[in-house]
Amino acid sequence: MARSRHIPQGIGVAVIGSGTIGRLRAQIAHRHPSVGYLAVCDLDEARARSLAAECEADAWSTDAADLVGRDEIDAVIVATTEDAHFEPGLAAIHAGRAALVEKPFTILPEEGEKLIVEAAARRVPLYTGFTQRFRRRFMAIKEHVAAGYVGHVTSAKATIYLTQAVAEAVISRAHATTPSINTLTYSIDLLLWYLEGRRPVSVYAQGGRGRFWEEYGSVDSTWSLLTFEEGTIANLGVSWELPEFWPAYVATMDFELFGREGVLSVKDDHRDVLMASNHAVPSPYTPEVSMNVAMLGSAMPGDWAMGEYFGAMKDETHAFINSVGTGRPDPLLATGRHGQDVLLVSRAIDESVRTGQIVPLSWTS
Ligand SMILES: NC(=O)c1ccc[n+]([C@@H]2O[C@H](COP(=O)([O-])OP(=O)(O)OC[C@H]3O[C@@H](n4cnc5c(N)ncnc54)[C@H](O)[C@@H]3O)[C@@H](O)[C@H]2O)c1
Repeated sequence: MARSRHIPQGIGVAVIGSGTIGRLRAQIAHRHPSVGYLAVCDLDEARARSLAAECEADAWSTDAADLVGRDEIDAVIVATTEDAHFEPGLAAIHAGRAALVEKPFTILPEEGEKLIVEAAARRVPLYTGFTQRFRRRFMAIKEHVAAGYVGHVTSAKATIYLTQAVAEAVISRAHATTPSINTLTYSIDLLLWYLEGRRPVSVYAQGGRGRFWEEYGSVDSTWSLLTFEEGTIANLGVSWELPEFWPAYVATMDFELFGREGVLSVKDDHRDVLMASNHAVPSPYTPEVSMNVAMLGSAMPGDWAMGEYFGAMKDETHAFINSVGTGRPDPLLATGRHGQDVLLVSRAIDESVRTGQIVPLSWTS
């Protein structure tokens, strides 16, 4: 086998969006041994400048299109606000750069479709940031489903809950998002990934109304039932209702798959690592909120320890950089098409919540 694992020429990375996630991605890229050129960007000049200083970036800008067009750039990570992925993603593709677009891929399906079409026309690799695929527990499920231990999957159940503080951070910056588009997206991606090519044909869902309904007009929770062509059913639920002091300071998940040959079950509520301290610990995603009892490891992307970042977002960022540098596709990275499929399911769920009807799904691609 040809040894294609070196990136002798180095690789240039641009991170668009210098908020919480862009900062992490840039810090991870900064530490990657093959990243020879790093550029960061934000509409907010102060954010771009301060991130550039923190990770010793070679360039910074407030203009994504300008930055991604520079000769040094090979790979672009789009970590802008949920409703602002399209423009920088398209700019990266038009510049011929491989792109990793954060989840949700886009909010409007026509924007997602355009990114896919433009990337295909230019043979530009296009990925979606479904970081949970890179957690060992979720990739273990993939491996064992693919190896046949569960057999034909007949039903599934998955839940994902956020604290109100995290949900507030999301909905206050992107009003068009919903629990289904922003949060359930992770569970939908895992389900479609495990079912490999099988997609739901109809969706029924209901939404619960609490403070986010009153303040933003978004449901606070959504419970859905997806039906697949072969009769497989999946019950997927999402809630933004955990109090801000809930000790799993970002997210709580679980996932169960039932098949003809076996069952797989993951409890991802982080109750196994509990800290109680007189000194309140800040939540990594919403540091304005602190708690005296915390389930450590509840941050979905990973954790800082001793000045280094560890976890799924590091592994995913490395997978993207390495695949661009070596030309060797990474089997875990979610493609743009995966991101678009998940978006269409999220939107069908929301449509069912709105109309109270069963929503059919038809797939043309
Ligand atoms: N993969 C994961 O595990 C994961 C986890 C959390 C959030 N996310 C996603 O990452 C994205 C960013 O989330 P965040 O928490 O960093 O949000 P954030 O609000 O902290 O940061 C977003 C930044 O994007 C900037 N921005 C907006 N439009 C821009 C543009 N056109 N050009 C340049 N900069 C622009 C904003 O000024 C802001 O600084 C969201 O889509 C979110 O859903 C992914």
